[in-house]
Amino acid sequence: MSADILKQNKNSWDKVAHHFNGKDALPSYGPFAQTEDELRLFDGIENKKVLDIGCGSGHSLKYMTNQGASELWGIDLSETQIKTAKETLEGLDAHLFCSPMEEACGLPKHYFDMVYSIYAIGWTTNLSAAFELIHSYLKPGGSFIFSWDHPLYAHLKSGNGQIYLEGAYQNEGVIKYPNFKGEEAPVVIPTRKMATYINELIKAGFTIEFVIESDVSSNYDEVKEEISDQYYSLYKARRFPTTMIIKSIKR
Ligand SMILES: C[S@@+](CC[C@H](N)C(=O)[O-])C[C@H]1O[C@@H](n2cnc3c(N)ncnc32)[C@H](O)[C@@H]1O
Repeated sequence: MSADILKQNKNSWDKVAHHFNGKDALPSYGPFAQTEDELRLFDGIENKKVLDIGCGSGHSLKYMTNQGASELWGIDLSETQIKTAKETLEGLDAHLFCSPMEEACGLPKHYFDMVYSIYAIGWTTNLSAAFELIHSYLKPGGSFIFSWDHPLYAHLKSGNGQIYLEGAYQNEGVIKYPNFKGEEAPVVIPTRKMATYINELIKAGFTIEFVIESDVSSNYDEVKEEISDQYYSLYKARRFPTTMIIKSIKR
């Protein structure tokens, strides 16, 4: 079952990757959310070995090299994304792996100072396997920072500015979307509760340092909102967090 989902999601990501070139990358943590420049969760990137889970087009790794990271490593399910990341990181000695995050693919163990993931973790079909592997890649004391849609967000719909709950937050499962970015690219995205992310981190051996339910970035302070029913909008973001960001440490 999960092998089928991974295959389908991979095909669809290969198809829509071009829509995401440079999107969802550090210093951004997510739509309208505070940025790394405001939150400062990565303390001291200089000379650190970093691994990006779901590295996409490679722009977060580029940010890492600009901040002085000593080694750049990334993993992504999509061949197209890995190809784009190679172009983004041309001339840099980046180690890029095409693999699902929930499967071992030869990444070194007890090696990284920091592992991070910007808007990719929630795609995993096996959260506990993904977190256990991430834990194994880190040095003791190393940090893991990830951002993803706030778990309630996928259930929030709006019409004429009224925000309401669709489906049940209580029922963890999957949502199937026949189209992705307006293309015929079916994807399956798991839905999980906030507590599931937190408890799976603890089970994998992490200590939680911060849980952030995003507020709107000060970059939008001067922007007037308009009533909008789009999936992500400033209107919604000023009323409900788009993004959860969790920082944890390998015990
Ligand atoms: C929104 S993009 C992330 C963008 C990225 N953070 C950046 O800096 O450009 C989500 C990425 O997750 C990847 N992905 C989806 N499912 C995955 C899985 N099971 N394992 C690894 N990567 C996955 C997709 O191929 C896609 O590149």
